[in-house]
Amino acid sequence: MHMNIIVVKNYEEASQKAFEIIKSLVIEKPDANLGLATGSTPIRLYELMCEDHRVNKTSYKDVNTFNLDEYYGLKHDHPQSYYHFMHEHLFKHIDIKKENVHIPIGEGHIEEDCKRYNQLLSNNKRDIQLLGLGSNGHIGFNEPGTSFDTSTHYIALKESTIKDNAALFFNGDLDAVPKSAITMGIHNIMESKHILLIACGKRKAEAVKGMIEGEVTEELPASILQRHPHVTVIIDEEAASLL
Ligand code: GLP
Repeated sequence: MHMNIIVVKNYEEASQKAFEIIKSLVIEKPDANLGLATGSTPIRLYELMCEDHRVNKTSYKDVNTFNLDEYYGLKHDHPQSYYHFMHEHLFKHIDIKKENVHIPIGEGHIEEDCKRYNQLLSNNKRDIQLLGLGSNGHIGFNEPGTSFDTSTHYIALKESTIKDNAALFFNGDLDAVPKSAITMGIHNIMESKHILLIACGKRKAEAVKGMIEGEVTEELPASILQRHPHVTVIIDEEAASLL
């Protein structure tokens, strides 16, 4: 097992730790390929990257980014789209070039878009893939039951994910949450040289336990990370409480 597990006090420390890892990669390799994630977890990390860019001028001008996923059926400029999220929380505050930003397109021709995204991913291996963790153990939008062999695909979201995301991002309005999404598959995620997963809070404790100590099973997608040669897991005390 190659998981490097770092337990920190709280969300702030987890974000700081993750920031140090991303910053040293970008400094060492200015044209790094970063796999990025959405959700509430990476928000503070992105804030730290923006602050650091502003104050210390760490540059992202040659960096390429590849996001994990996008809701299906929301236009780019929809305030809840992941495209919008990424621009608001990160891209518009740093010097990344627009053409170096890649996010699945969550509308129109699904199959063509999945094919295009897979091609892009196989031509641009990620140096690091940032991941959050769904409370049901999903990574990206690879819900429990998704085959480990999948590449970018269209997926119907589980009720629990719709509920989680309604509470966090849609003011509790279940009807407003898209019911499907486009996501990198487990296969694409596993291709990254280094995987950096952050999970905080009690809500994640069970999934964290399964991911680290449970059997490797498609019922808990994140458990596949036990088979990756270079994984860093940053968790706070609450997320680590069942270990
Ligand atoms: C969504 C995203 C995932 C994210 C998960 C957890 O489902 N597609 O990439 O990891 O939410 O979100 P949060 O960080 O808000 O708990």
